[in-house]
Amino acid sequence: MSKSVVILTGAGISKESGLDTFRDADGIWAKVRLEDVATPEAFERDPDRVHAFYNHRRAGLLEASVQPNPAHEALARLETRWRDAGPENQVLLVTQNIDDLHERAGSSNLLHMHGELLKARCLSCNAVSDWRSDMSRQSICPACGDAGGLRVDVVWFGEMPYHMERIYAALGDCDYFLSIGTSGNVYPAAGFVEQVRRHGRPTAQTIELNLEPSEGASLFHHCLHGPASEVVPAYVESLLDGT
Ligand code: APR
Repeated sequence: MSKSVVILTGAGISKESGLDTFRDADGIWAKVRLEDVATPEAFERDPDRVHAFYNHRRAGLLEASVQPNPAHEALARLETRWRDAGPENQVLLVTQNIDDLHERAGSSNLLHMHGELLKARCLSCNAVSDWRSDMSRQSICPACGDAGGLRVDVVWFGEMPYHMERIYAALGDCDYFLSIGTSGNVYPAAGFVEQVRRHGRPTAQTIELNLEPSEGASLFHHCLHGPASEVVPAYVESLLDGT
């Protein structure tokens, strides 16, 4: 019988790779106001400041010291071995993260619901292109050649996340829902556990893996608290042992 797993990840899974989270004491939103850098209004008001913010994060992501950690690697392993364990088995990885550490670890059935830091979107032709260097108002779109219309392909506050139809369909059909390294403050992702509990398979199991209890911890069947690099590989092994 096929079994499907849906995994949601947040900034906590990349913390041990050297990337800041948002709401921890040393988090990004403790250093800069999201209203100044992560809304369409902020980009309208001061595009140079927004470009500078994401240029800094992009350069940080591309530093040699920033690499996938054992939690990213365990999820890539789960995707392969789970699929090998059953013809219809599948693992869908939904990340709120805009870094590329899941891809670098080998995950492939992956959706970036909040977009990607290493992508540019053109407001003139709407094309999405790979982008690994600094971006500015002078940057030229690789697709249409227009200058000045590029923005980072990240979903800002007040904008619609990507892939929502596919995500809700998978939540309605999953046997396991894992939530990893997210504080449960931002919707619609924070509502996924309730979506599974209310509208999913009656037998679906929901599991939180996080450094500490999230806002929605009481909604999960099981919670494992500790650093992702420890609790995720251990949980993945226990899941694979059951196959
Ligand atoms: N291992 C596991 N969890 C960790 C670790 C770690 N090493 N370090 C921190 N955490 C946990 C924190 O306890 C916290 O619950 O990760 C969570 C990070 O929460 P946030 O900083 O709120 O990040 P996230 O939930 O991903 O934010 C959601 O908000 O700012 C927006 O668009 C942005 O995608 C982001 C969204």
